[in-house]
Amino acid sequence: MSKRRFTVVVLLLSVLIVYLFVQAPPPLDEANAREARTIPIEEAFAIVADENARVRALWTTDIVEAGLKRGLRFEENWREEGVDAGPLPALFLRETAVSLEKDRIRLSLFLGSDAPVRPSNLFTGTQAERFREVRRLRKPVFFRAGDTGLNVAMFPDVAVAPGCVSCHNEHPETPKRDWQLNDVMGAVTWTYPQDSVSSEEVVAMVRALRKGIRAAYSGYLQETTTFARPPELGERWPREGYYLPSVDVFMAEVARRSSAATLERVMSAIGNDGPR
Ligand code: HEC
Repeated sequence: MSKRRFTVVVLLLSVLIVYLFVQAPPPLDEANAREARTIPIEEAFAIVADENARVRALWTTDIVEAGLKRGLRFEENWREEGVDAGPLPALFLRETAVSLEKDRIRLSLFLGSDAPVRPSNLFTGTQAERFREVRRLRKPVFFRAGDTGLNVAMFPDVAVAPGCVSCHNEHPETPKRDWQLNDVMGAVTWTYPQDSVSSEEVVAMVRALRKGIRAAYSGYLQETTTFARPPELGERWPREGYYLPSVDVFMAEVARRSSAATLERVMSAIGNDGPR
């Protein structure tokens, strides 16, 4: 990052910290707490979805694609003993989702489809219905699920690279072999109980997601220590050779790629009808 951008990010972060901790109103009672929820859940979902998409791109390009060229492997059975491999992007997302499930924050994440490779990734009920809309509109769809009462956001997951199409079409268990580039293959689906959140809550959601990402990445690094030839962990990335960034280096890159955008979105969301 350039020095100037770094300074801008630091400044923006300071503004948020001042807003959250210094300017924040004194402890609120119940009624006020409801009023303080000024960010619509749709916007909060968009913020976490944007972070997650950036991390998925980082994982896919800088770890998986760069790693494959250096002799690292990424497979669906990466957890099996004797398999010296890491998780495919969909599986990295699932690892993140599993950790997120354990957090106090009731944010959850699921990557589903109407024609999944893995039957457990099949959309059912209302989600299956609303997914047709996601495919038709190629835009996120938000609704409140009748059965669970949870707010749901479904973001289209598009076949952006030839690899998406070929790997899915050739998979022995796929129910569909004619995926094409740019098809909506599935939807990244988020749920959350409340239909609006405070700025503190949205920050807690982002923090929970990052914790999940950290756990997913640590799990992978842990696995690499059992490889016949473990990659060197530290400052360096696969593009430089048979290396992997340490958890802290990976998470610093996650923050570098998403913090400024997240902060902008949080600030403009608060700005819409103003914090009370
Ligand atoms: C090397 C193979 C491979 C590549 C490349 C790949 N996937 Fe997948 N994908 C899988 C496998 C295997 C699963 C099932 C993972 C699981 O849940 O066990 C999966 C799961 C999914 C799911 C959840 C539904 C399902 O099919 O189970 C979606 C949606 C998805 N992938 C979309 C994509 C997109 C979009 C891309 C490209 C950006 C992509 N995949 C690239 C192998 C691949």
